[in-house]
Amino acid sequence: MKRVFLETYGCQMNVADSELMAGVLERAGFTLTGRPEDADAIVLNTCAIREHAEQRVLGRLGDFARLKAARPGLVVGVAGCMAQHLRAKLLDQSRVLDLVVGPDGYRHLPELLRRAADEPVAHVRLDRDETYGDLEPRRGDGVRAWVTIQRGCDKFCTYCVVPYTRGRERSLPLADLVRQVREAVARGFREVVFLGQTVNSYHDGTHDFADLLRAANALEGLLRIRYTSPHPADVGERLIAAMAECPRVCPQVHLPLQSASDRVLEAMRRTYTLDHYRGVVKRLRDAIPGLGLSTDIIVGFPGETEEDFERTCDYMAEVRYDSAFLFKYSARPDTRAHRLPETVSEEEKGRRLTRLIDQQQAISAEINAEWIGREVEVLVEGPARRTPEQLTGKSPQFKTVVFPGDGTRPGTLRRVRVVGATSQTLLGAAVVAAAPRLLPIG
Ligand code: 5AD
Ligand code: SF4
Repeated sequence: MKRVFLETYGCQMNVADSELMAGVLERAGFTLTGRPEDADAIVLNTCAIREHAEQRVLGRLGDFARLKAARPGLVVGVAGCMAQHLRAKLLDQSRVLDLVVGPDGYRHLPELLRRAADEPVAHVRLDRDETYGDLEPRRGDGVRAWVTIQRGCDKFCTYCVVPYTRGRERSLPLADLVRQVREAVARGFREVVFLGQTVNSYHDGTHDFADLLRAANALEGLLRIRYTSPHPADVGERLIAAMAECPRVCPQVHLPLQSASDRVLEAMRRTYTLDHYRGVVKRLRDAIPGLGLSTDIIVGFPGETEEDFERTCDYMAEVRYDSAFLFKYSARPDTRAHRLPETVSEEEKGRRLTRLIDQQQAISAEINAEWIGREVEVLVEGPARRTPEQLTGKSPQFKTVVFPGDGTRPGTLRRVRVVGATSQTLLGAAVVAAAPRLLPIG
């Protein structure tokens, strides 16, 4: 067995985990292929956060069942959160599957794949100590490297399956992370995004998250630092000061709110009130001029009344996020909320979702329009997807900027004057006079 096709679903953490798996496989002599038809083994790296995510994967397994019918030697595996969530049940239920491997089994992937060629294999033991800190991921191309700094979650929000699929929170040693970022920079990456379920509760026994930001800020050749996602209860003064004082740490925070009703926040066990959250936003905005702010919201949590929902609408109108990820509540087996009776119908969840999407789109469009006439610094990523004659990249606030192609190389900072805007994108014209401005080293 030689060639592996790896397909990724879900969040950035999963994308990073797939890069980790790719590294493990290549070191063991496997090659990665971009076409399932060419593969000896197929691995789907899956998500379990909402029911819809699992259904997509089950649908995809149907495609691979057909490939396998034509080629019985093909090994099909499911990795990631859905693998951990459903465990051996998945092997029992699916006739196509040979391998089920949870988020803490990736070190053993080569051996698991070889065994799975002979008989069905499940590796779904969670491991409190596994951080993969010593393993080099095989990163995809681009200017942005995703670096997992923490695995698992200890918060146990009542709707969320992650603590069950990814296990207890653990942080990678700061020295391993600094080495990883250095290597990424040496390979041409110019931006790093630190990843964790509650990234700001990072602690390796000696260093906290603010220490990590400051250590990364001192690395030569790294232009930008971001992170996702912090928990509002753990945003302290040390983090805010590090953001304010480190020029390479971008003025951008994705700060999941989930709901603006204290009653719902309590039922979700988010451990903060709206007032606390409001205070965090104020301190961040006071300390970091031009902060880009985004969030996650769940509508239709069990017991969410019309009044609770109105509070969320009102707060979102007050705080004015740059953007928001909005979700319908999806009951997940194993979680505490799964036992609560669902009080909001699918239809009503849909109505609340649409209402919030419309409101947020209008706000995003207004905020983006305020950028017209101003200059932004874009870290150029390459040709725009839909209009390849144009270039695209992100502003410090993580807004997508598109501007006419002028030969600027990916990985370069380019000053762009904003001449138009939609709710999703800033449209720009490159500023000719200014040379790309690099931040001072040190
Ligand atoms: N239903 C809907 N959305 C969920 N999220 C997490 N669990 C659920 C669920 N059961 C959302 C939260 C989280 C984001 C990553 O996914 O908003 O911040
Ligand atoms: Fe899930 Fe809450 Fe942990 Fe985020 S903080 S991963 S929502 S349990």
